[in-house]
Amino acid sequence: DLGRVGDELELPVYAVGGFVRDLLLGNENDDIDVSVEGDGILFAETFAARMGYRVKSHEKFGTAVIVFPDGFKVDVASTRLEYYATPGALPTVERSSLKMDLYRRDFTINTLAIRLSGADFGMLFDYFGAYRDLQEKSIRVLHNLSFVEDPTRVFRAIRFEQRLGFQISRHTENLVKNAVKMGFLDKLGGKRLLNELVAIMKEREPVRAILRMSGLGLLRFIHPEIVLQAENLRVLDEVKKVTTWFDLLYLAETVEVWVVYFLALTTAISDDSFWGACTRLSVSEHYRERLIEMRIHGEQVLEVMERKVARGEDVRPSDIYFWLRGLTTEVLLYIMAKTRRDEVRKFVSLFVTRLRGVTTSITGDDLKRLGLPAGPRYREILDRILTARLNGEAASRDDELR
Ligand code: CTP
Repeated sequence: DLGRVGDELELPVYAVGGFVRDLLLGNENDDIDVSVEGDGILFAETFAARMGYRVKSHEKFGTAVIVFPDGFKVDVASTRLEYYATPGALPTVERSSLKMDLYRRDFTINTLAIRLSGADFGMLFDYFGAYRDLQEKSIRVLHNLSFVEDPTRVFRAIRFEQRLGFQISRHTENLVKNAVKMGFLDKLGGKRLLNELVAIMKEREPVRAILRMSGLGLLRFIHPEIVLQAENLRVLDEVKKVTTWFDLLYLAETVEVWVVYFLALTTAISDDSFWGACTRLSVSEHYRERLIEMRIHGEQVLEVMERKVARGEDVRPSDIYFWLRGLTTEVLLYIMAKTRRDEVRKFVSLFVTRLRGVTTSITGDDLKRLGLPAGPRYREILDRILTARLNGEAASRDDELR
């Protein structure tokens, strides 16, 4: 249907980029990028009107997003090149070729296009040797200034390399090293750097990507004190295991997996340096404070639990409950990954799977009805009832009342 609307408007329409790459690799990709040689917005709006779909256009960039009823999205771009004919004159919008559009991209493997309209429907356009690189499993930039133009591509290269099981080509790797040496990455804004890290940590094998980042000297751009050593590597590997375990619980709750990896990566640095790393990444002040508070609180609880276990002291379910109840799930998973003690890991998993769901049937309202004066005593009483419940000493409402 995209092609038909292209034909009606006499506009050449192509599927481009990651979608075509994944199509040829046989990988799933629900994100279609479409390039239109000409007015992409007109194309998107005509298509959306015809189908009754929603569309959002950005006139300034010549782009639009078509949203299908099931949430599926098509990004539409116009292959247009703006330039000023003479200094001071109004910009003359000149139509550029598909090839020019593809040349601006990050890696050859993202430069494939498939024609969706006209007599050439289904034809593959490969201007930069993308097909060969897909076969050779090689990540290559299109030109030597690629990382200077956009330093986030350094991280994208690593992400694609790990995700696809490809290899960054030797020349491209040298360009990465050069970008590092020349300090181009210092200029990378915190938000953009954070976005890239989050994207990496959302992939299936973040640890390998982190190892690669370490090998290329990229971790110091987050914070100079972040280095990989045995301890944080062990914790990072454990994060993979505990987040997989958590996924398999199929709870309704979602966790920010990148936060767990980030806590593991920074486990060995001081609170001040952790704060510095968050600042470098432009984490909002509010979230930064929350993160550092959670980290400190989590470390304290971890210490308490490990001490108890080391001394062989008795730990009741209610102890576990009250230690852990103030922590976010991300920090709970971090604690599970960090501890070297199986017992502690079991405490946390017991809390996540059972204890934190325990409730009492008696509420503050019940206490009021019983004529108890409101005040801090309420909390105390309710916590005592909850303790009995958690430890299996109260199984019913009658037990609770007693
Ligand atoms: N792109 C680029 N430089 C960047 C970011 C993106 O050249 N810093 C280009 C890439 O060629 C990519 C396209 O813009 O094909 C769309 O970007 P994105 O959606 O991030 O890439 P995908 O290849 O679709 O990656 P993913 O599979 O992770 O969605």
